[in-house]
This record gives sequence, structure tokens and C-alpha cells, in this order.
Amino acid sequence: MKNNNKYNLPDKQGNFGQFGGQYVPPQLVEILNEIEQVYMKLKKDRQFKQELVDLYRNYANRPSLLYFSKKLTKKYGGAKIYLKREDLNHTGAHKINNTVGQALLAHKMGKKKLIAETGAGQHGVAVATVAALFDMDCDIYMGKRDIINQKMNVYRIKMLGANVIPVTQGQATLKDAVDVALGAFIKNPEAYYLIGSVVGPYPLPMIVRDFQKIIGEEARRQILKAESKLPNYLVACVGGGSNAIGLFYDFINEPKVKLVAVEPAGKGANTAKHGLALMKGRPGVIHGFKCSLLQDKEGNILESYSAASGLDYPGVGPELSSLQELGKLQVVGVTDKDAVEAMLELSREEGIIPALESAHALAFGTKLAAKLPKEEIVIINLSGRGDKDVENVYENLINN
Ligand SMILES: Cc1ncc(COP(=O)(O)O)c(C=O)c1O
Repeated sequence: MKNNNKYNLPDKQGNFGQFGGQYVPPQLVEILNEIEQVYMKLKKDRQFKQELVDLYRNYANRPSLLYFSKKLTKKYGGAKIYLKREDLNHTGAHKINNTVGQALLAHKMGKKKLIAETGAGQHGVAVATVAALFDMDCDIYMGKRDIINQKMNVYRIKMLGANVIPVTQGQATLKDAVDVALGAFIKNPEAYYLIGSVVGPYPLPMIVRDFQKIIGEEARRQILKAESKLPNYLVACVGGGSNAIGLFYDFINEPKVKLVAVEPAGKGANTAKHGLALMKGRPGVIHGFKCSLLQDKEGNILESYSAASGLDYPGVGPELSSLQELGKLQVVGVTDKDAVEAMLELSREEGIIPALESAHALAFGTKLAAKLPKEEIVIINLSGRGDKDVENVYENLINN
């Protein structure tokens, strides 16, 4: 990465400012330290880098297109709207960028089994996919509620030869799936825990970011080729934050490029049913790391909510928490209703059905573009495709 002499986090202790760190039992510290040591070495290894590039290119189908949306640009009448087409990746989302990288790391460590959590099922599919590719056993922990909402992805995971383990505790969504998957990892340290977002104890948020930053590196090259200048805004939805940091990372030191994180406002920012961890959270610890976290006055973690399973998480990655504190991040919320409208709009305008998660970024990005001059550029991260959401949207979220 160029210009990265100013921003260089995490620090040696694994902190992103006051966020991040390792709040885990001693047996896990040992395993995490081993992962860190191997990763730091491999990161500089030419062969590892070549193998990763080969997987990105010939397996995941990278580079993903940067698509100029002529119709949305015309409709909104302001800045040019570009879509970074992560939905065109193998398995249909940005999640594969991280899973090919971490599976390669696990393979180099001699691991024979992958454990993972999933919310929307996209990460579960991406892990089951690389488990098949690398001949590894695979257990995917998934909340019962998400299993019902994301049926197609459950079938895909099973078809790929992995086990889906239903999680019934708590709200039976992503947070609970991470709780149970982390517990399984502690009991089974021979396995590799392939986390799905830029969350968890150090070094996991850094590793996931490093495998996702390809999104922004490509976007920089592509927009320079198409427009001979950098974008004015980058817009991405935020669950744990991996597609957002993946797009933003290469631009953090560009003062003129504004980074917009779109959180799920669920049924409304003023209701109790949202997942606005950056907007409404305060520093707290979840799943072994410190971040901006939804919690009550006593510090109990509050339930999050979003119709988009992949955004339904009460915390958020430590790096995004830190970027917000550093004033480098603009944070907004989009409701379920506006996201569904944006999903239908892109489907009907451009013939592209986006994931409900990505539709949050679209809903804000298009309205932002409308207010900007025509010579400005907005890049919206289309983190995934919407096939997995079609049934839920028609059965539960719109009046046919
Ligand atoms: C398509 C899609 N976009 C976004 C997300 C949110 O994850 P993250 O914030 O890590 O990008 C998910 C999570 O499952 C997803 O499936």
C-alpha cells in the first residue's frame, strides 16, 4: 500500500487505539500467538503471496468489476455512481476473499479442520467452499433464526460437504453462533477457527482486513483508469465491518476521500430494534476484543436487530471503532424498509439483485450522490448478491 506511513494500526500489542486487543482465556492466547507468528512470516513469503494471488484470480474470480451505474446516476442526477461488484465473486460475496486467504494459512499450519460461525450464511458457504478445496473437515455454527431466514445457504453448506450446527441459545443469531463457535475452538485447538469478519481477538481482525483490502486496492486502480481521479466517497454496509474496511483501507490516508459506514437502523434508530454499534454503542468487550458495543447502563450487551442477518451484530470491528474515534469515518444508519426499497430498485434499474446487506449501502449511497455535483464520484460496495434473500424478502418484508 502506498502512503501508509501515517496510519499503521494495529500496534504491537494488537490495539487499534483503545480498541482491539485480546480479552481471552490463556489457552486461546497461546493459539492466537501461534497464528500471529505463522501469519507474519507468511505475509512476507513470495510463494504464499503468489498462491494467494492465484486463488484470488483463478478461483475467486478477481478482480471484481467496478461498474458504472449509468441508470442510477441519471435517476439521482448528481455524482457518478460506481458499484464495486463483489457479488460477482465465486460464492457470491466478498467473504471468499477472506476464506481463501485464511484457508491457505490454515493449510500451511497443517490444520485439517475448519470451524466457523455464520450469520447470513455467506461466510458459512465461503468456508465450506474452501474446506472442500483444501480437503478439510468443516463445522459451521449458525443461529437457528438465521437457519430459517437463510435456508438456501444452509443447503449450499451441506452440499459442499460441511456440517451445519444449529445454535439455539440467546437470540439464536450471529452473536450466539460466535459464542458457541469460539467455545468449540477452545475445546478443539487442533482445528482452525476461520472467523468471518474483522472482529475477534488480535490478530484475527488484522488478518481478515489484510485479505479483504484487495477490494480497495482494485477499486483505486479501476477508478483511476476510468476517471483519472480518486473517488470522493466510498460507501459500504457494516456488520462486523470486513467489506467496509476492505474497501476503505487503501484510502485511509487520502484526506479527500470520505469513508461512509452504513449501519443497520432496523426498525428505526429510535426503537430498540437496530444494530447501530458505531452510532449508539460505547467501548466494551465482546468475543475477545474491545469495540464500540451496544450495551445498557450496567454494561450488559444489548440485543441487536436487522432484517439483514449479516448485519445483525451488537459490536463492530475494532479498526472501524478506532477510525470513527479518529474522525476518519462518517457513520449513518439505514432502516430495513429503505434497504428493501434499494434492493428492489437496483434489481429493476440495473438487473442486479443485491444482498439485503449491500442494499443498506445502496440506499444511502444513491441519496448521497443525488446531493453532490455531477463531477464527483461515489463508489458503493456491492458486497454480495441477493439470491439468498429473495425468499425472505417476498415472504416477510414486502407485500407482493
Ligand atoms: C453480502 C454481505 N454483505 C455484508 C455482510 C456483513 O459483513 P461485514 O460487515 O463483515 O462485511 C455480510 C455478512 O454476512 C454479507 O453476507
